[in-house]
Amino acid sequence: SAAPDLGRRHVLVTAGGTREAVDPVRYLGNRSSGRQGYALAATAAARGARVTLVAANSELPDPAGVEVHHVESALEMRDAVWAVLGAVDAVAMAAAVADFRPSSQTSSKIKKTVGAPEAIPLTANPDILAELTRERNDAGRTHPVIIGFAAETDNAVENGRAKLASKGCDLLVVNEVGAGRAFGTTDNQAVILGRDGSERPVSRGPKEELADEVWDLVIPRLSDTQSN
Ligand code: C5P
Repeated sequence: SAAPDLGRRHVLVTAGGTREAVDPVRYLGNRSSGRQGYALAATAAARGARVTLVAANSELPDPAGVEVHHVESALEMRDAVWAVLGAVDAVAMAAAVADFRPSSQTSSKIKKTVGAPEAIPLTANPDILAELTRERNDAGRTHPVIIGFAAETDNAVENGRAKLASKGCDLLVVNEVGAGRAFGTTDNQAVILGRDGSERPVSRGPKEELADEVWDLVIPRLSDTQSN
């Protein structure tokens, strides 16, 4: 869709995968490429939105016409999201956020001469999506529209419904993942679940097509008040 149907709207997208430092040179990370989030940012910009992209460790180039904040860790991502949250009409949380981070990080590189550490203690990261939906829902607001993402290998709809309820978001994009699917590929197959009970299957296709389907579902949920 080339229609500027997101004109005068400001959207926030998270993308990529967070890295949680172990020491100055090592981290715990994941295989997220950032492609789905970057596709969401690019398609929203093409549809006229002002776009802020909080990007974690993606190798993709910054999309044209998008304001990009580069972050490393979950805690940095949380700060970057909260810094713009009050100004946006919709938030799409496509990033793969690490559930845990090393409880402490050494200021110098762990030397192999001291021998292998027996364990790396971990601490839970905040669930950024759950935090922002809780704050919004507790305040009795429906603004901004909040979109979560999930990857499921089995029972996508059933597991997705449970996740949507626990996260409190308006839409949940459930990627149907399996061997060779979703991570790092350019294609995606998904079902987009709505808090209102709606269910939109999206057949396998480019991540830009899924992104456009997401924005198509966001538009009727936007409130009349515009943030931009
Ligand atoms: O619980 P799960 O990781 O499957 O949820 C995925 C969704 O929650 C994604 O939208 C992801 O960006 C978001 N998330 C988050 N903060 C976390 C973990 C996940 O915002 N710590």
